[in-house]
Amino acid sequence: MKAVVDGIRKDIRAVWFEGGEVRMIDQRLLPARIGIVGFRDYRDVAEAIRNMTTRGAPSIGASAAYGMCLAALNGDDLARAASDIKAARPTAYDLFHAVDWMSARLAEGEDPVKAADTYAETTVEKCRSIGRYGGELIEDGMKLMTHCNAGALATVDVGTALAPMRYAHDAGRDFFVYVSETRPRLQGMQLTAWELWQEGIEHRIIPDGASAYYMSQGVDMIITGADRITANGDFANKIGTFDKAIVAKHFGIPFYVAAPVSTFDLSMESGKDIVIEQRSQDEVCVMNGARIAPEGSQALNPAFDVTPAELVTGFITEKGILRPDEVHVMRD
Ligand code: MRU
Repeated sequence: MKAVVDGIRKDIRAVWFEGGEVRMIDQRLLPARIGIVGFRDYRDVAEAIRNMTTRGAPSIGASAAYGMCLAALNGDDLARAASDIKAARPTAYDLFHAVDWMSARLAEGEDPVKAADTYAETTVEKCRSIGRYGGELIEDGMKLMTHCNAGALATVDVGTALAPMRYAHDAGRDFFVYVSETRPRLQGMQLTAWELWQEGIEHRIIPDGASAYYMSQGVDMIITGADRITANGDFANKIGTFDKAIVAKHFGIPFYVAAPVSTFDLSMESGKDIVIEQRSQDEVCVMNGARIAPEGSQALNPAFDVTPAELVTGFITEKGILRPDEVHVMRD
């Protein structure tokens, strides 16, 4: 992605390996500033996934791959490292896919840095392909809507839901994007809006609760990412995605989900099996260090919800666009 770092506009990725350490953009600091952190111990990478320094399913996967790389370079117990990294967050399937992929490469004696770099680079290539397929759906004058952040920050580079938008923008098409703020961590407002602004793509941030209102006024297409897609075409994504899919169905708005094949967990038959991460209630009740909820009230904070396959128009993958009833075929 292009971003202004230290006053210079340059290409930067969400996570990479340099100088013997795993480096990543600390996504908790955006949009105020681009802060880069570096880690030399896999346990610190696992913590960075847990505390959302790095986030978004494919970036979590690439970070996990680099975490396994550090474990191998440091001579750590790889089975222990694999289970520690997998324990960081439960919902994004890319995390598990990446750790297993790296474990297999390391067992074959592959160079750890080369293997993790290949994992990250392949992720970016898949996103480019998603951009090419999905970009063809975006026409001049369209109004789109997205939720959370499924952009370059979430995927090493390029994005999943934002990849078709980047592609269509580069092709010279004019369109507009509603970006829902995405309470409580504000990935829509702080990350997606920042990426669209950096790209010069026209957009407006809207409160999460305003999406039905804007859909009633005319939205042509919704594109989100996914954290895990099951064999029947159900998928988990950021909390609030399910609401948008229901409202989209009400208004007859096409609802697309953009994700690489590494997000498809075909060992799970349906979304009922997906473990939904429950995060701290402080993410809901505390803002900028100050409690904004009544002292006597508790909050619930599920990080994801599951949208049933029947609400999905299509999955935009690096292999093409699949209908929900075609997902299981990938297993055969
Ligand atoms: O909790 P997060 O910020 O990691 O959740 C991210 C999302 O839900 C994204 O939409 C999803 O991971 C797809 S990222 C390409």
